[in-house]
Amino acid sequence: MSEYQAFIGQIYKKTGLDLSLYKEVQMKRRLTSLRDKRGYESFQDYFKAINADQQLLQEFLDKVTINVSEFYRNPTRWKVLEDTIFPSFKKQMKKIKIWSAACSTGEEPYTLAIIANQFWDLKDIEIIATDIDPNVLARAKQGIYNERALQEVPIAIKDKYFHQEGATFKVNERLKKAISFKKHNLLADKYPADVNLIVCRNVLIYFTEEAKTKIYHNFNEALDDDGIFFVGSTEQIFSPEKYGFEVLDTFFYRKNYNT
Ligand SMILES: C[S@@+](CC[C@H](N)C(=O)[O-])C[C@H]1O[C@@H](n2cnc3c(N)ncnc32)[C@H](O)[C@@H]1O
Repeated sequence: MSEYQAFIGQIYKKTGLDLSLYKEVQMKRRLTSLRDKRGYESFQDYFKAINADQQLLQEFLDKVTINVSEFYRNPTRWKVLEDTIFPSFKKQMKKIKIWSAACSTGEEPYTLAIIANQFWDLKDIEIIATDIDPNVLARAKQGIYNERALQEVPIAIKDKYFHQEGATFKVNERLKKAISFKKHNLLADKYPADVNLIVCRNVLIYFTEEAKTKIYHNFNEALDDDGIFFVGSTEQIFSPEKYGFEVLDTFFYRKNYNT
């Protein structure tokens, strides 16, 4: 067993986070650079330090869970949701249940709530927003953002759903009520059920093929019959039919219940 693998085993025992399911080359590069930055020559020494120092542990976890996000990330994809998918859902559904899986600091579920609100009342929109990292969830619940996170937000939307306080923008309380933020590990925890739309973007790229396969199957099961799965811009699924999906649009897959 390599020193890195031994380290991964220790981290799993300490935190429950299984780094063997994340692509090794990328993850090792990130962690080696952090370890070197902190002045430890081996992963063994680094683990000892992490084990004894809560702050170092937190920094390590932050590095693992790469959590950049923004509102309307890749705007053209959200247009597909707005122009095609939600109008068709609206014809069939009085209420909608959406899961923003790996939601980071909340920009994604708030974007979903804003767009869904063009079609449904907020009381008929249920958004479950989950992430493995409690720190990002705490920030998501606060709903306070800087101008940069909002660069793709149309002005009318900004006026309607945000309250500017100095250099920051606060999400309005009514919008917040449509969303429940919860801690959830995609690699270990039970998945929600009867979801109409799963949005899982910019996290699957970090996982091994084995981990992705399991997640695709789990997502398929979590979806309702007409359910749709929306992926990130570099995360198209190779052979979606293997997991019970058919292509609906480039980054959208529909649950195919013939399989
Ligand atoms: C780059 S962010 C993506 C945020 C948002 N989905 C977007 O596209 O803007 C990746 C998020 O995945 C989360 N994450 C990493 N591993 C995870 C896991 N095993 N289960 C759930 N979330 C995870 C991280 O904490 C981080 O917040």
